Amino acid sequence: MRIDIISAVPELLDGPVNQSILKRAADKGLAEVHVHNLRDYGLGQYKQIDDKIYGGNAGMVLMIEPILKCIEDLKAERDYDEIIYMTPDGETFDQPMANQLSLKKNLIILCGHYKGIDERIREHIITKEITIGDYVLTGGELAAAIIADAVIRLIPGVISDETSALTDSFQDGLLSPPIYTRPADYNGWKVPEILLSGHFANIEKWNDEMALKRTQERRPDLLDE
Ligand code: ADE
Repeated sequence: MRIDIISAVPELLDGPVNQSILKRAADKGLAEVHVHNLRDYGLGQYKQIDDKIYGGNAGMVLMIEPILKCIEDLKAERDYDEIIYMTPDGETFDQPMANQLSLKKNLIILCGHYKGIDERIREHIITKEITIGDYVLTGGELAAAIIADAVIRLIPGVISDETSALTDSFQDGLLSPPIYTRPADYNGWKVPEILLSGHFANIEKWNDEMALKRTQERRPDLLDE
């Protein structure tokens, strides 16, 4: 899989792309993330990428031409399954959406900045709009990093224990059960006896029951779905 992220502040993506699971996936040849600086496609001597909002409202908007030029350059190289725009008024990102996106080959993610992008890019170019939640970020970069992380970790082989992505919270519509490691008794804080029993069928049953209990207590809305 390949993800191309277009940003007016590409530095914000340095950490996620070069340090995290995304880097491990790239090292293993399983997924690549490329960040493109919108400024490189800016207009004129000053590489202008934004301009005032028509109609008198305060704030700046990312212009059509630099975005279009960048996307056209990318599309000349390969076909893209989706051209995604990160925006608070998009469809809410969740695990099923991450699963769907992890099956795609090439994605473009466009990050908004300032007040956002010219609406005509949304109308004519963008194929999917995503929000990571009901709050407003300064730009789409952190949201794009979250999408890339959640999607790429699902690609087989990216996480060393390939069952672990499948046993994540939300994958079966339930939260994960509690987990423990050594010591079995820390000053009286004990690991549940059953997990030390070695009886795998009982342990699995206990994990299932705890996942259900946790979901009932914390996220009953997940059970309604
Ligand atoms: N850009 C600004 N806020 C955002 C959000 N909540 N989700 C995605 N992109 C955004």
